[in-house]
Amino acid sequence: MSDTETLSSQDIIARAKQYVIGNYTRYPVALVRGEGSWVWDAEGNRYLDFFPGWGCGIIGHCPPRVVAAVQDQVATLIHVPNTWYTEPQTLLAEALSERTGWGGQSFFCNSGTEANEAAIKLARLNGKPKGKYKIVTMTNSFHGRTYGSLTATAQPKYHAGVEPMLPGFVYAPHGDLDAVAKLIDNETAAILLEPIQGEGGVNLPPNGYLEGLRELCDRHSMLLMLDEVQTGMGRTGKWFAHQHWNIVPDVITLAKAVAGGIALGAVIAKPEVAAKLVPGTHAATFGGNPVASVAALATIATFDEENLLERATQVGERFQAHFTALKAECPLIQEIRVKGAMIGLQLSVDGSPIVEACLKRGLLINCTHKTVIRLLPAVNIESQQIDDGCAILREVLLAHSV
Ligand SMILES: Cc1ncc(COP(=O)(O)O)c(C=O)c1O
Repeated sequence: MSDTETLSSQDIIARAKQYVIGNYTRYPVALVRGEGSWVWDAEGNRYLDFFPGWGCGIIGHCPPRVVAAVQDQVATLIHVPNTWYTEPQTLLAEALSERTGWGGQSFFCNSGTEANEAAIKLARLNGKPKGKYKIVTMTNSFHGRTYGSLTATAQPKYHAGVEPMLPGFVYAPHGDLDAVAKLIDNETAAILLEPIQGEGGVNLPPNGYLEGLRELCDRHSMLLMLDEVQTGMGRTGKWFAHQHWNIVPDVITLAKAVAGGIALGAVIAKPEVAAKLVPGTHAATFGGNPVASVAALATIATFDEENLLERATQVGERFQAHFTALKAECPLIQEIRVKGAMIGLQLSVDGSPIVEACLKRGLLINCTHKTVIRLLPAVNIESQQIDDGCAILREVLLAHSV
């Protein structure tokens, strides 16, 4: 193929099937360009994207400040290893720390699963002097696909066929504080959970749950570690979702949206916990590289300059209003779960045909946990786009209700 060759969707799909390992279920569409909440396929068809980048496109496709920052950085310094200091990584760590409000220090990597691996190591390093190594996680959680994060992911379907899993994990039913308390013994080092479960179906924590977990951690000298890979970076209307509740975690993990679509993961830990990651204990060659770091700084600047935390809340309210009206006429909708631009529609039926029908009408959405329509729209999505997409979803859901 020459540099200028343009393939049709059909060609791209045929060649992908031959050369790319088939571990993903893909829709028969090849996307070539994106701008804000729009994406285009190889034939020039335009789609409205309510799920940009699987949660990574928090300020839409190709956000201008991120594009400019990356273009400038790749022409200046692409990569140096972490044996050197760089300004972008330092400024990013400072910006994230300021936004935690509890003096967090960062370790950088490239993805959510890597961030959780680092958090798991941190929990073990922190617990080691007291003989603590066990970690409690919650049913229907999702923490990633590498072995530590996968073991933390308390869903048997993801473990099937690749056992044995990593030792030292115990699972509690999500939302059940007493069940967590019963699992704790003097070897328990940490509790790890998503403040709002994403892949598990946009499950909000019950009242008092996160506060109760914090108390348990204090009482038993354990770390409270929050996986904010999906909920963090302004998604829910606060920089980090835990800031909606009256708790301070010991560790949070980030990825997805943090660099506006460029790969970057982070662990942010309280300084006294972070101190356990001494030289030799952990590393990531590409972690916090200059390109990803400037992309993250540009993402943060976009939030600040365009008041996007507030906008995330408004986006959630607009979706909530549409779906509340729709629930009254659509018996398929059992429950609406919204926190800012993180939206779940609990259906009484399999959501996959809904996703496919929306795709045919030019709307990209997601279905998770079989029966939950999940939307992670860009926080700078226009009100008109929300209205237009919700109109499509309404038509599709009503058509499937009969
Ligand atoms: C809460 C949460 N943690 C971790 C991950 C894994 O992130 P990654 O795919 O970047 O490894 C995901 C991905 O969906 C996630 O939603």
